[in-house]
Amino acid sequence: MNSPHGGKLIERVDFSERKKEEAREMPHKEITLDDARDIANIAHGVFSPLEGYMTREDFLNVLEEGRLSNDLPWTIPVVMDVDKQEIEEILEGDEIALFYEGKPLAILEVEEIYPYDKKEYAQKVFGTTSIEHPGVARIMEKNEHLVGGKITLLEDPPTRFPKYRLWPKETRVLFKEMGWKTIVGFQTRNAPHVGHEYVQKTALTFVDGLFINPLIGKKKKGDFKDEVIIKAYEALFEHYYPKNSATLAILETEMRYAGPREAIFHAIMRKNFGCTHFIVGRDHAGVGNFYGPYDAQEIFYDYPDLGITPFFFRSFFYCKKCGSVVNDKICPHSDDEHINFSGTKIRKMLIEGKRPPELMMRLEVADAILEFENPFVE
Ligand code: ADX
Repeated sequence: MNSPHGGKLIERVDFSERKKEEAREMPHKEITLDDARDIANIAHGVFSPLEGYMTREDFLNVLEEGRLSNDLPWTIPVVMDVDKQEIEEILEGDEIALFYEGKPLAILEVEEIYPYDKKEYAQKVFGTTSIEHPGVARIMEKNEHLVGGKITLLEDPPTRFPKYRLWPKETRVLFKEMGWKTIVGFQTRNAPHVGHEYVQKTALTFVDGLFINPLIGKKKKGDFKDEVIIKAYEALFEHYYPKNSATLAILETEMRYAGPREAIFHAIMRKNFGCTHFIVGRDHAGVGNFYGPYDAQEIFYDYPDLGITPFFFRSFFYCKKCGSVVNDKICPHSDDEHINFSGTKIRKMLIEGKRPPELMMRLEVADAILEFENPFVE
């Protein structure tokens, strides 16, 4: 099993009634479910070594260098914005309570409030300032200042999938119980097609365990809904996965669609769960044509000190001549023999209430998805 990023699993949790009482007396700020989820990720060590929201030094270093100010690899800012009124009310050095749905969820020790340049943020993290990019569009909606400081979690945010919510402390116990020394992590925001299954099973051939870790949280229009992804994987697991070498748990955070930088962030989180390896296939965490198909693999060469080994895969497709799922490294046949696992094609068929061909999607998976009236985010 791998050790956490930075060497120590962060735990910043105090679920005592006394602490909640204290929080109720503090000035407070309302937060969204997305914020609440990331606060829980910080507190339970999914974002180790972060102990809170980034202060300016770390934020700028992440933008410029793709590293924290202590040089540890880190590519995505973990920040919270504050509006004009809050800037007047909150002082550096204060403790404030972060309220979710009227209840204290966390305490933030305000270390620093600072302005930032959104365009620079977008350019450095997403490689573009176009608001056609869903990640950039979200940044542009944010306030003009950020607040940095440590957090303490008072209560876990609600989840719709309690059975699959495991924190790094728990996955580490699970991996140990399973007797897995080498574990490959798989990030996904999709219901699985046959290409996903091939990537996972090929990787699993070389390690003890497969940790499938779908991302549950804010996604863009047209992506699969969270509950659909879970049902689809349940069907796949039931019919096609070995019980002693594969497991499923969720990661509750937003999709950023930051391609290469997000691939590094995804790998770091799986390292914190205990994974020793991480799958990066075609256009990992990409959107539209913003990134080249293998950019998210290239970036790993800048991080020899990442501490988790990437498994790179070329794009898998079905080859009629080979009669199997292959990629361009192992198949000598021409394009007209190939059937791609096109997300667009699969989506279109599912919207029409049709099963995609079995070559593309397992029947059981298609049927699980077709139980939903509309499987896609609107
Ligand atoms: S992602 O945004 O979470 O990366 P998705 O769930 O589709 O999207 O992909 C999960 C992982 O599978 C990524 O590493 C991606 O590159 C990989 N992947 C998806 N489809 C293929 C394919 N046909 N061939 C190889 N890798 C793939």
